[in-house]
Amino acid sequence: MTTDYLVIGSGIAGLTFSVKIAQKFPDRKVVIVTKANEDESNTKYAQGGVAIVSNKEADSFKKHITDTLIAGDGLCDKEVVEMVIKEGPNRLEELLLWGANFDLNDSGKFDLGKEGGHSEYRIIHHKDITGYEIERALLAKAHQLSNISILSHHFAIDLVTNHHLKSSQVKTLSCFGAYVMDQKSNTIFTIKSNNTLLASGGVGYVYGHTTNPVIATGDGIAMAYRAKARIKDMEFVQFHPTALYEAKGESSFLISEAVRGFGAYLRNKSGYRFMPDYDERAELASRDIVSQSIDSELKKSGESHVFLDCTHIDKDAFIKHFPNIYNKCLEHHINIETDWIPVVPASHYLCGGIEVDEKGKTTIDNLFACGECSRTGLHGANRLASNSLLEALVYAHNIYKAQVTSNYDYNEVDIPNWDDAGTSIPKEHILIQHNLKRLQALMRDYVGIVRSNKRLNAAIKHLDLIHEEVEGLYRESKITTALCELRNMINVAHLIISQSLNRAENKGGYFNIDNIK
Ligand code: FAD
Ligand code: SIN
Repeated sequence: MTTDYLVIGSGIAGLTFSVKIAQKFPDRKVVIVTKANEDESNTKYAQGGVAIVSNKEADSFKKHITDTLIAGDGLCDKEVVEMVIKEGPNRLEELLLWGANFDLNDSGKFDLGKEGGHSEYRIIHHKDITGYEIERALLAKAHQLSNISILSHHFAIDLVTNHHLKSSQVKTLSCFGAYVMDQKSNTIFTIKSNNTLLASGGVGYVYGHTTNPVIATGDGIAMAYRAKARIKDMEFVQFHPTALYEAKGESSFLISEAVRGFGAYLRNKSGYRFMPDYDERAELASRDIVSQSIDSELKKSGESHVFLDCTHIDKDAFIKHFPNIYNKCLEHHINIETDWIPVVPASHYLCGGIEVDEKGKTTIDNLFACGECSRTGLHGANRLASNSLLEALVYAHNIYKAQVTSNYDYNEVDIPNWDDAGTSIPKEHILIQHNLKRLQALMRDYVGIVRSNKRLNAAIKHLDLIHEEVEGLYRESKITTALCELRNMINVAHLIISQSLNRAENKGGYFNIDNIK
């Protein structure tokens, strides 16, 4: 298959770019491959909203910029922060034009929420299902454009770069598309494209216990890494402080930070409100601080979770703002009017990823990255809440703009087909499951919120053993999605651990006891 634009992923990043470029060039073809149902993504589960300065009387770009820089703990790229925040209102206009709905207050202005690290109310939201609404609107728009094809249940296995070519037709390291598996027929084919956009989302599932859906396996980052793109800041895994506690320890429902912005308190088992002891902003300190504080409380008490107390909040107001959270709690027999919600930190977001410039270009020619898989410099050592959807919108626009002005030059390279000669269907699927569990336990126990050099070094050794076994399976077996995802997660785990070991100073979401001075 050939296309003008190959987009890997159908969350906010992939869809926003696709809609913009397809509208601008009706004669150019955009192919989106996405490995599950077309709407399955981290985007779909976003709750709190999008941080955008809209109330210029109380708020300002300057305040949002300052909050972002403080949260990022000195490691943000200031120019990027300014650019992204100032672009926010334009990108919001576009989302509204495409049909996304956000809550309004009685005066017809945006009903603004607040989250950790924000000095003002500035989070635009659609109840507590903002991502669901954005994904709905973007997919509806994409379906109106006849030059966009969405191939759901299609898994991108690897990028095609110079080293796949029969002869060195191109001198600089470039991307020519990807090898893709149709997951229903299990056939692998090549999509040749002049420009490829990785919009493949985050890595939460590497930890098992995560707010992310199971698709968040870091595929794009692993593909880019294998293709020799520069990957940066992988040590900055963000743990969300308040995932609903469930003993199973797998994907967990999120209790939005906006609930703390609405007045909820964090308490330990004996009812003590501990956050004021850790930070003067108490429950509304930035996420890194709240998660590290909960971790410290749990280590002192030996308990498995703390509690979020909403019992003092007006029930009707709560239901109006957080209907989904209210109902989810009821499903778990938690009545927020009388019961505290058991919560625990869980892996939530990756601040690092594939390094890109302001135009979203990676260190490989013709390869762009956008959204959670990218590292733009906006988040530094810790992302400010609700800055992620904003970042994806702004960079999708920047990449689009770069395409509008660049020369359109269809490449004529000769790409060999995927070769799986000598492999067979894996006989022991259990080995994939077994190694996945080993990997997730390793990341949870050795590479969590608080790290140490001893644990990180031990993690590298254990990971090597898992890597060896899985590479053996990969060489001998016909490709399956589960095997590719496991291999990708091993690459991502390696990057998180090795880049953690390289960081000699604690910053934001990275805390290593051996770095305490
Ligand atoms: P995603 O939305 O994750 O989309 C990735 C896409 O890539 C998916 O379609 C996936 O199937 C596809 N894909 C992945 N690998 C492959 C492959 N190998 N082949 C083909 N397709 C592939 N951020 C905010 O700013 N505000 C919030 O309120 C907020 N709340 C959140 C709540 C939750 C529970 C979670 C999990 C995250 C939240 N975030 C929030 C973070 C934010 O939702 C994500 O960072 C953002 O949606 C990422 O968008 P994306 O387009 O980069 O990736
Ligand atoms: C939340 O609603 O707490 C998540 C917000 C985010 O991750 O930005």
